[in-house]
Amino acid sequence: MVVKMDRNLYTAEKLTALQVMLDAPVIPVIVLTDTRQAVLLARALVAGGIRMLEVTLRTPRALACIEAIARDVPEAVVGAGTVRSAADAQACAMAGARFAVSPGYTHSVGQACRDAGLPLLPGVATGSEIMMAQEDGLTDLKFFPAMQAGGPSMLNAWSGPFGDVRFCPTGGVTLQNASEFLALPNVVCVGGSWLVPAAALQACDWAHITQLALDTAGLRRVPA
Ligand code: 3PG
Repeated sequence: MVVKMDRNLYTAEKLTALQVMLDAPVIPVIVLTDTRQAVLLARALVAGGIRMLEVTLRTPRALACIEAIARDVPEAVVGAGTVRSAADAQACAMAGARFAVSPGYTHSVGQACRDAGLPLLPGVATGSEIMMAQEDGLTDLKFFPAMQAGGPSMLNAWSGPFGDVRFCPTGGVTLQNASEFLALPNVVCVGGSWLVPAAALQACDWAHITQLALDTAGLRRVPA
């Protein structure tokens, strides 16, 4: 089965972090080294119903891969992950990234994303980090590393003092435990690398990756 989607829904439109989180129950965390693979991978994920794609800035070709997806796969919405500095934010915006995800939060990364018009999902693992992001007006956050930093019970504890914050838990999330996170009212989606296994990428096994994306269709968040 191939999921059909409205091709133009998000083209050229500026997104909010919440729209990025709401599009599908899972945002795939992707490591890429080759632009041709990048395009084929993006098409495979889109065919499986996943179009918000986080390409991490962890390889020398990451920006080129973001650029290739932005140019050649208009059905996808490509964002940059592992954004750790203002320079990263500027570079990924120039490459065509439509959103940014960071493993932590600093005011300068927040400012650079605002300046570049990029919605940011900043990583937080403590109450102080949530408060720092909130000081800058950010209320849609990535909980990272989710399993290692306390898992669903941590999010449950935060729902009291930070009842106005929505999370995308990432780090140690799998198809098996994703439902536990998505059942929480303060979780909008999860992030994970399991949709793009390194072996499948290396083997160019696009059918397998499309199937992994299709498998997430059964995951459901709790309606807000
Ligand atoms: C990461 O930034 O590597 C993500 O948190 C992915 O973590 P995972 O490999 O545990 O899904």
